[in-house]
Amino acid sequence: METVRVNLREAARAYDISVGAGLLARAGAILREAVPPARRVALFSNPTVFARYGRQVAESLEQTGFTVLAWQMGDGERHKNWHTLERALDFLLAQKFERHDAVVALGGGVVGDLAGCAAALYLRGLPFAHIPTTLLAQIDASVGGKTAVNTKQGKNLIGVFHQPVAVIIDPGALATLPRREVTAGWCEAVKQGAAGDAGLFARTVDFLTQNGPLAFAHPQLAQLIAAQCAFKAEIVAGDEREDASRTDARSRRILNFGHTVGHALETVTRYRRFRHGEAVGYGMLAAGELSKRLALLNDFELESLQNATRVCGKLPRVADIPAEAVIKALAGDKKSVGGYVKWILLERLGRARIVDGREISPQILREALREALRLA
Ligand code: NAD
Ligand code: GLY
Repeated sequence: METVRVNLREAARAYDISVGAGLLARAGAILREAVPPARRVALFSNPTVFARYGRQVAESLEQTGFTVLAWQMGDGERHKNWHTLERALDFLLAQKFERHDAVVALGGGVVGDLAGCAAALYLRGLPFAHIPTTLLAQIDASVGGKTAVNTKQGKNLIGVFHQPVAVIIDPGALATLPRREVTAGWCEAVKQGAAGDAGLFARTVDFLTQNGPLAFAHPQLAQLIAAQCAFKAEIVAGDEREDASRTDARSRRILNFGHTVGHALETVTRYRRFRHGEAVGYGMLAAGELSKRLALLNDFELESLQNATRVCGKLPRVADIPAEAVIKALAGDKKSVGGYVKWILLERLGRARIVDGREISPQILREALREALRLA
């Protein structure tokens, strides 16, 4: 088993991420160490994941003395909303959960974000653990304490920081993941390396090139996932709450590499065409091209980035989307500061540079989008 420590400034809130094949069956023992006094666990999941892994996890928790009360939300991003959050809180209230009891999220980032939000709000904060079952959630969403729900105005606009007490990752659970979710997860893995760690980028691309995106039984996968988590943990430890005034290359904001154009593509297609990670895949290509046109990234590194997104898997079509619609959507990006987009670009692979949108001419932006995505 690999263990990654997330060292937060306040030492008492530090926690371990455990990664290893077969850990679903050991979830009880790991959680017991993290929350020794807890009596009850609210096991939050959705029908897709619970049908596959719910019983195994519940049994493991029960073996270490927890009473498990399962609760399920609908499957899909559209359920990550106020209404579901209210139902989740009503469940905890009806079952009279107490401060020492715990909430456990079993599922992808949608379940994790919603369960984390409910755990943060209920009695001003219950202990919370992630058991992520998508690649994206294993390398990204379960690490770092961001929780959120969506509203009509946009995604993740309402949320709180609430760090988990434990993250339990079993790469074996990825075997049942739909192919597009796999591609989306690998795109986010490439993103993490490209934005902040050249060694991690190379290691991720090498793994994919040698084994393909579906090598979930590979003995080195757990180490790679742990390395991805360690990278994110280091960034989170240095900038837990994503300080808006920071513009340096270790700011948490760099994790949004590829997200500016990614979000715009999702908005323009009304969240119906792309999985989030797929849109980030295209967003990285656009940000890479923009970086090249601003004389930051060289041709060779841009080609490496293009190759890296290719080995993640096939992305949905994009060429029919008008560049003008994407540019319009960029203006509404929630990561903008004072009305201007803060672009996460690359100085080189593994080193991001945050660039104010005012420094980029509309002409260069338009050309970069057309070149990178062949937009209409
Ligand atoms: P998801 O949670 O919707 O999961 C994708 C699909 O896979 C769902 O249909 C789910 O039921 C299914 N699934 C999950 N595990 C499975 C398994 N092992 N086998 C078969 N099917 C399985 O999507 P996601 O990509 O995991 O997460 C996306 C969400 O995460 C978004 O809401 C995003 O905002 C959020 N997110 C949060 C953070 C954070 O730091 N909190 C970071 C990145 C993304
Ligand atoms: N996924 C970006 C972050 O956690 O900050």
